[in-house]
Amino acid sequence: MKKTLLVLTLLLASSLAACGKTETKPSPAASASPVVSASPSASTGTTTKVEASAVFKANCVSCHGVNLEGAVGPNLQKVGSKLSKDQIASTVTNGKGAMPSFKGKLSDDEISSLATWLADKK
Ligand code: HEC
Repeated sequence: MKKTLLVLTLLLASSLAACGKTETKPSPAASASPVVSASPSASTGTTTKVEASAVFKANCVSCHGVNLEGAVGPNLQKVGSKLSKDQIASTVTNGKGAMPSFKGKLSDDEISSLATWLADKK
């Protein structure tokens, strides 16, 4: 009688083992339909930033890079944590080392908006 029990147990075990796994792959949910947001409309009010970046593009990118990453001149991405607005304005006005003076090339307004803009880069 013991033998039958053993056979039964084996049968049971093998039938259980035959039970395959059901693979469930997570179906990618309908995700991220890219919403193309309209370009930020030029907000009215302070035009300082726009103006400053335009002045920067025209006068400074050749040495400081389009993204302020630096080239001939130093990286200015964090210049605001190092220099105050006034220090930046006087560097631009008077020049420094290999940097030319912009006195007479840029108006006081342009220099001051540049300085404000750069002093904000922290
Ligand atoms: C001919 C290349 C050149 C141009 C153009 C130029 N710079 Fe510079 N700039 C330099 C160099 C080189 C230095 C580093 C001077 C030094 O410390 O001796 C510098 C330094 C600076 C600094 C001080 C950075 C620091 O970490 O001390 C500021 C701020 C700055 N430039 C802003 C400007 C702005 C704003 C303009 C555009 C109006 C401009 N620069 C145009 C070459 C240039």
